[in-house]
Amino acid sequence: MFKIVSKQKIAPKEFDMWVEAPRIAGHAKAGQFVVLRVNDMGERIPLTIADHDEEKGQIRLVFQVVGKTTAALSRLEPGEAILDISGPLGTPSEVEKYGTVLMVGGGVGIAALYPIIKALKQQGNKVITILGGRTSSLVVMKDECAKYSDELIVTTDDGSEGMKGVVTDAMKMVVERGEKVDRCWCIGPSIMMKFGTKAAKELGLPIWVSLNPLMVDGTGMCGCCRVTVDGKIFFACVDGPEFDGHKVNWDEFMSRMRQYKDEEKISMDKYIEEVGEETWL
Ligand code: FAD
Ligand code: FES
Ligand code: MG
Repeated sequence: MFKIVSKQKIAPKEFDMWVEAPRIAGHAKAGQFVVLRVNDMGERIPLTIADHDEEKGQIRLVFQVVGKTTAALSRLEPGEAILDISGPLGTPSEVEKYGTVLMVGGGVGIAALYPIIKALKQQGNKVITILGGRTSSLVVMKDECAKYSDELIVTTDDGSEGMKGVVTDAMKMVVERGEKVDRCWCIGPSIMMKFGTKAAKELGLPIWVSLNPLMVDGTGMCGCCRVTVDGKIFFACVDGPEFDGHKVNWDEFMSRMRQYKDEEKISMDKYIEEVGEETWL
């Protein structure tokens, strides 16, 4: 059992939890994730290790409620426990001194971007971070990302904070003002990563994305997380989750993400009926 130490709601449907998991905290690296089961009736879901504290033996999970399992997780309180958590899983991010790195994040993808920002800054890179969302309240973890960034640019679709527009507008702005970017990461909703990659191509930038396909075991055995990159098949849980965005088959990736939509909706509707109210909104 993995005890929840703290829980905070950081945006509508978005939660930030610290959980006791000493053995995972002792080995976690930027870019890795865990697979957890909330209870013994539950499915397994992957979540990024958004941060870890080796001394306290804790890991941090930042997640958005999108269906039954994330809703069930959001209803656990400090003092209660998650049934099982395995990790750290996945290949860590390639953290080196590149020079100037452009870090682009959106939605709950910011939670996955944050540990990479932190690690790249600690390696001595100049870090320019762009965080985007529909509206100001959905752009989370701004202060923490700013702490490890030389510059933080916020974009909002509605102009409620920072630059009015989308993250790709800010990517273009940074390059057009003459910044020499050596490497770029983009983590967020699939559509954002697809268009982030398109913008990087136009701007001549290398870009890494973190793919979040359906996963079950997280250890390369079930094949559920199959993705096509550079015309070859990879398992995102062991070969990734980070890949060269320019080589990802985005259409196949996005269509595989949607394959159980109907079943997921039925499951969520039943869960809302069972618990009586949507406490996570
Ligand atoms: P459902 O209603 O079951 O599904 C809603 C949507 O979530 C699906 O359409 C599908 O796109 C996705 N999904 C469903 N089941 C899975 C599954 N087993 N594996 C992957 N995706 C699934 N989300 C966060 O909020 N924070 C994170 O830090 C985070 N990190 C991730 C890291 C990795 C490596 C991967 C692969 C995914 C990550 N996700 C993260 C996505 C998260 O796993 C899904 O949102 C979650 O599994 C949804 O489960 P559900 O039952 O609540 O929703
Ligand atoms: Fe089973 Fe990757 S999740 S092979
Ligand atoms: Mg589910």
